[in-house]
Amino acid sequence: MNKRELYFLLKEKYNWNEGKINNLLEGITAIVETDGNLKEEIQELAKDIELLNKSYPVDYLIGWKEFLGTKIYLQYKPLVPRPETEYWVELAINTIKSENKKILTNINVLDIFCGSGCIGISIIKKIKNVTVTFSDISGNALKQTRYNLKQNNIIKGFNVIKSDVFKHLPKQKFDYIFANPPYVAIRAEVGKEIFHEPSKAIWGGDDGLKIIRTFLTNLKDFCHPKTKIFMEFGEDQNEDIKNILENYGYVFEFHKDQFGKWRYISIKLNTF
Ligand SMILES: C[S@@+](CC[C@H](N)C(=O)[O-])C[C@H]1O[C@@H](n2cnc3c(N)ncnc32)[C@H](O)[C@@H]1O
Repeated sequence: MNKRELYFLLKEKYNWNEGKINNLLEGITAIVETDGNLKEEIQELAKDIELLNKSYPVDYLIGWKEFLGTKIYLQYKPLVPRPETEYWVELAINTIKSENKKILTNINVLDIFCGSGCIGISIIKKIKNVTVTFSDISGNALKQTRYNLKQNNIIKGFNVIKSDVFKHLPKQKFDYIFANPPYVAIRAEVGKEIFHEPSKAIWGGDDGLKIIRTFLTNLKDFCHPKTKIFMEFGEDQNEDIKNILENYGYVFEFHKDQFGKWRYISIKLNTF
């Protein structure tokens, strides 16, 4: 546990004010108040601190995470949305906006591997005339997506479908596809917090590319000639992904994240 996590926990879950938090963090105040509620709160806080010390994600304790200005709830424990994802999704949304300035027809977007729904929900909130299909193999992820849609007062303009990659999706051509698949290699060194997140959201087989391969192999059936695809991948996977893509004749560009690491790719069937 670090001080920053504890600070967020106390602020967002326990609604403590700055003074009280700082007193605790600086060790000035021993919390010995006898008020019944406070005792319960302190007991709960002690449990939370124990969990933080075991690298349990602070965002699960708080119960939500902000993603592109939207509150994304996490009570069904999907993958915690990451700032690296937020970064490329914002850029991709700007691309869609600039490519569709004059188009008034509906834009069809697929948020495959949707998890909490953070990507598709941001798209619905930021782009007019859009229909988003959310899909994931995990029932909990889909429950979370539905919950987050409801919490954000989104009642139309979406479908939620349980599917193993593309297998159970109706044959449809999407205008844009957003994909953040599980891509961590089984033996990769990872932070301890990852072991508290759903394994399906993280692991991509021996080389991390198992789900990515299935995705790229079946992608064409869901694309028309102008479809644009954005996909996140793990650090150092760009060369392997390049090799896979060259087998399919796609046109693609790799992009770096906010930390200067190759992190996502945009793909088209033909030219950009
Ligand atoms: C890295 S998480 C991405 C979650 C969310 N889109 C985000 O960016 O925070 C990957 C998601 O893929 C889902 N998933 C794993 N294997 C899958 C498969 N074979 N078919 C469909 N979804 C799968 C997991 O359940 C998980 O929700």
